[in-house]
Amino acid sequence: MLVLFEIKHHISLKPFNTFSIDVTTNSFVEVNTVQELKEVLSQNKEEILIIGGGSNILFTQDFSGLVIKNSIKGIDVIFENENEIILNVGAGENWHDFVMFCVENNYAGIENLSLIPGTVGASPMQNIGAYGVEVKDVILNVEALKISDLSIHQFSNSACEFDYRSSIFKTTEKGKYFITAVQFKLSKKPAINSSYGAIEDELKSLGVFKPSIKDISKAVINIRKSKLPDPKEIGNSGSFFKNPVVDLNKKNELLAKYPSMPYYPQKNGTFKLAAGWLIETLGWKGKRIENYGVHEKQALVLVNYGGASGSQIYNLSEEIISTIRKSFGIELEREVNIL
Ligand code: EPU
Repeated sequence: MLVLFEIKHHISLKPFNTFSIDVTTNSFVEVNTVQELKEVLSQNKEEILIIGGGSNILFTQDFSGLVIKNSIKGIDVIFENENEIILNVGAGENWHDFVMFCVENNYAGIENLSLIPGTVGASPMQNIGAYGVEVKDVILNVEALKISDLSIHQFSNSACEFDYRSSIFKTTEKGKYFITAVQFKLSKKPAINSSYGAIEDELKSLGVFKPSIKDISKAVINIRKSKLPDPKEIGNSGSFFKNPVVDLNKKNELLAKYPSMPYYPQKNGTFKLAAGWLIETLGWKGKRIENYGVHEKQALVLVNYGGASGSQIYNLSEEIISTIRKSFGIELEREVNIL
């Protein structure tokens, strides 16, 4: 049989995680098709770790199993009429490249999610979101391979149990599936979502009053570039923590003490607070310890200036969680997966 994939041994994972942490893996393979993936899994006896862009992971130690990098590509039109289009996209496609493809073709719905690092396959996993849009708003279906028996399964949008930075793939089905493709339903008659304050401000400064999806994408890219470090220059994983959600009493208690605290009412009567604000308020923003620290422009982002270990960054996150607990009585949760 023709073997198309190559299993490598004892290689560094530094190029495969956006935190640029230098750990090694016992084995490593990149798969380009579902068939290759099935062959790899049927031969494999090691513990596996699936990665896409490696943009939501902090390695604190070497990995003793097989890392499978998902490089399954392809964008296919499944259905199209004058109002909408359904695209089936290989999970290994780069997320931002896919967004740019949609923006160029005027397929609307994900322009607010421009410049998010990672792959298409990782997007449903943690229901990526930014500037008033979550990927769950446009996902029709997720195709995934069950690792235990290599069968292919289809998850409808509701079956994915999407929530804030969460889905069934991070909760009850964690580690059981390998996402192979995602179907997106996008609009050809865009409903522009520029309600997020920062986007409105950026559009104004660009002199745009009737924005197209290209303008929204440009505005988002400008905002992200001004606030978030580029992983190619400074190792990071975007927001390290989730924004905490609290009840009315807790929100009021904190607001009495900190009148300028931002908060966002949720549909179910709870309130989302800005973890970045909490962390900044305790003086962490821009704090640098040797070659790692808290980003100077967005306190939710922890950074590796080069050469830091995953444990150092993990310990910093523990310290931040502990001071937030003491000062605000809030338990911060990590958004990044720790390994
Ligand atoms: N804030 C501070 N200090 C900071 C950061 C934020 O005071 O260092 C305040 C801001 O002034 C604002 C509020 O917190 O009042 C919210 O800030 P921002 O709009 O920057 O958004 P965020 O809640 O900090 C979330 C996402 C980001 C996403 C932005 C924009 C999470 C965990 N993070 O951040 O997602 O880009 O909204 O929609 O929900 C990511 O997940 O990697 C990510 C970057």
